[in-house]
Amino acid sequence: SPEQCSRAVAVQRRVDCHPQPGATQENCEARGCTWCTTDVPNAPWCFFPEDSPYGYSLGGNAEKTAKGWRVTLNKRSQLSLFGNDISPVVVDVEFQTKDRLRFKIYDPNTERFEVPLKIDSPGVAVISIYLQITTTVPSTSVYGFGEHEHVSFKHNMDFVTYGMFSRDQAPTPFANLYGVHPFYMCVEDDSNAHGVLLLNSNAQDVSLSPNPSLTFRTIGGILDFYVFLGPTPENVVQQYTEAIGRPHMPAYWSLGFQLSRWGYGSIDVLKETVNRMHRYDIPYDVQHLDIDYMERRLDFTYDKENFAGLPEYLQELKKAGMHNIIILDPFISKDEEPGTYRPYDLGEEMGIWVNNSDGVTPAVGQAWPPGNAVFPDYTNPRTVEWWNQLCLEFKNVLDYDGIWIDMNEPSNFLQGQFPGCADNDINNPPYIPSISDRSLAEKTLCPDSKTYLGEHYNTHSLFGWSQTAPTFHAVQQATGKRAFVLSRSTFVSSGKHGGHWLGDNFSQWKDMHYSIIGMLEFNLFGMPYIGADICGFNYNTTYELCLRWMQLGSFYPFSRNHNEQDPAFFGEEFAKISRATLRIRYSLLPYLYTLFFESHVHGNTVVRSLMHEFTSDQQTRGIDTAFLWGPAFMVAPVLEEASTAIKKHHHTGIK
Ligand SMILES: *[C@@H]1O[C@H](CO)[C@@H](O)[C@H](O)[C@H]1NC(C)=O
Ligand SMILES: *[C@@H]1O[C@H](CO)[C@@H](O)[C@H](O)[C@H]1NC(C)=O
Ligand SMILES: *[C@@H]1O[C@H](CO)[C@@H](O)[C@H](O)[C@H]1NC(C)=O
Repeated sequence: SPEQCSRAVAVQRRVDCHPQPGATQENCEARGCTWCTTDVPNAPWCFFPEDSPYGYSLGGNAEKTAKGWRVTLNKRSQLSLFGNDISPVVVDVEFQTKDRLRFKIYDPNTERFEVPLKIDSPGVAVISIYLQITTTVPSTSVYGFGEHEHVSFKHNMDFVTYGMFSRDQAPTPFANLYGVHPFYMCVEDDSNAHGVLLLNSNAQDVSLSPNPSLTFRTIGGILDFYVFLGPTPENVVQQYTEAIGRPHMPAYWSLGFQLSRWGYGSIDVLKETVNRMHRYDIPYDVQHLDIDYMERRLDFTYDKENFAGLPEYLQELKKAGMHNIIILDPFISKDEEPGTYRPYDLGEEMGIWVNNSDGVTPAVGQAWPPGNAVFPDYTNPRTVEWWNQLCLEFKNVLDYDGIWIDMNEPSNFLQGQFPGCADNDINNPPYIPSISDRSLAEKTLCPDSKTYLGEHYNTHSLFGWSQTAPTFHAVQQATGKRAFVLSRSTFVSSGKHGGHWLGDNFSQWKDMHYSIIGMLEFNLFGMPYIGADICGFNYNTTYELCLRWMQLGSFYPFSRNHNEQDPAFFGEEFAKISRATLRIRYSLLPYLYTLFFESHVHGNTVVRSLMHEFTSDQQTRGIDTAFLWGPAFMVAPVLEEASTAIKKHHHTGIK
């Protein structure tokens, strides 16, 4: 009503009381919330009143614990937004190091899923810092949260919601993509920065509103917040990676230029491509093999017809000083003749698949291999053994130096496994966060499937993460060298064992710009070995776009072209320019390698925003069309069609 609206909280301070679609005045007021329409775009019309009956109040005094305080909270009323509210809940505040604070909000009476990531807590009592956190008014300079295609590095705070739930999804703004990183950094107006991790793997979303405020919603686990106190942006990332694990140290060769393509189709085309690269003398160190090297897309095989002689050819490449990466998928065909496909037979014998809700029959879905497929459950130690064994054996077939793990969201081409998901509260919870299709089963397995660590509902977004460390160790063991693992799905701390590419990007000018944002974000997430597919992946590229992308991509930490148009495709002039830009990269490799060392030892970013070095200069807060390698080298690429220079007025503000 009008008088309700006039007394209502100001638009910019509204917190959505009906985050699921379909809010009406009736169902809003029925939950005790206020309904006021507004023409402010995306602002909620149904929101919590100032004296909200929801929420919790303090029950009794804070109790001192070994490393901080414990308080108990009780629900204020019987009202419930999503049902099954827990009361009381306990809040533990722990001073973990002098730069790190943990708030853990949990149910004292029932055990709930917790992310199995061990964060050491030496524990110190520095009470004054707590006061600082609670009194600080954050600014609107908020960065991070992933994985999404963000159109700016500095977030728009005008009622924007991002869902997080790993998904096989080509990058589109606002969609939840392959990985999950519930971490953000905020740079306050006085230039002090802090970072916050919500250590939670369930489907979740976060709303950014102009107050400025952030609202976290997750549908499982516990609310486990870690606060990193900075004060500089670099300090925040150092403190974050101290907690979750420092990035791995990549091999020097993996900083060289890399080539890949989906659809070489035959070893002859592969050889032609490699020869053409050499003929044009384009710096080039690593060759990737996408799924078409496999026999009928079966893991741990190669196509003995179209790729006859591949084992010998890979050895030849290695003798010439190159390195080879092979792709592996996390699904195993169950429909080969019994006794002919060892990966399935051995896995079946070992009982390593993700199971249906009964906990004993394997979940069967459909993916790249012909027939139907089962999904190795990498949270199970037996699966790790199986995978390790097969990776070691396969090294004797194809002489690889690293493994690229794809489709590990995990991707399934159906909605849930056969015969579809049961209608229950786990598969259809009362609130589904703001994720694509508002479905937890779309393109993946049913949430009530069973993994070793618990329900897929809890472990879904940990699938790629749980595959990364075992693959890293297998590669290390197989090669006896520093491991190379590239993973599509990632989670908090994946950077310890792998790198990432920004997914199946589109060959479009704006995507080229967004790749800088993605690269800056993954550096905040502790995954500095990062890059996008140079020239894009989907859609046809053009000469000019691909050329500009080669120039930008020469400065991705992970520099790989994964397009039908490789740098030798467009002829002499294109090759000449690619050679020149890559030679700049190569001349700077000792510097890049040193930055990775700093990152591995101290947790620094490798690629960083200008804001990290010039924090007090307010202009740098919004720059995402240029970036720095470490503190000392700036790259400001041409990102627009038909232009040959970077002008001032160009949103960078840089001359
Ligand atoms: C899945 O089922 C197999 C038997 O088929 C069993 O050996 C295994 O322990 C089960 N795993 C999980 C996580 O339920
Ligand atoms: C590609 O996708 C990633 C997310 O996977 C996104 O961050 C990035 O901006 C996209 N664009 C490019 C060109 O990489
Ligand atoms: C890409 O190029 C090929 C060959 O030139 C053409 O057949 C195809 O239609 C193009 N695809 C798109 C999406 O433009």
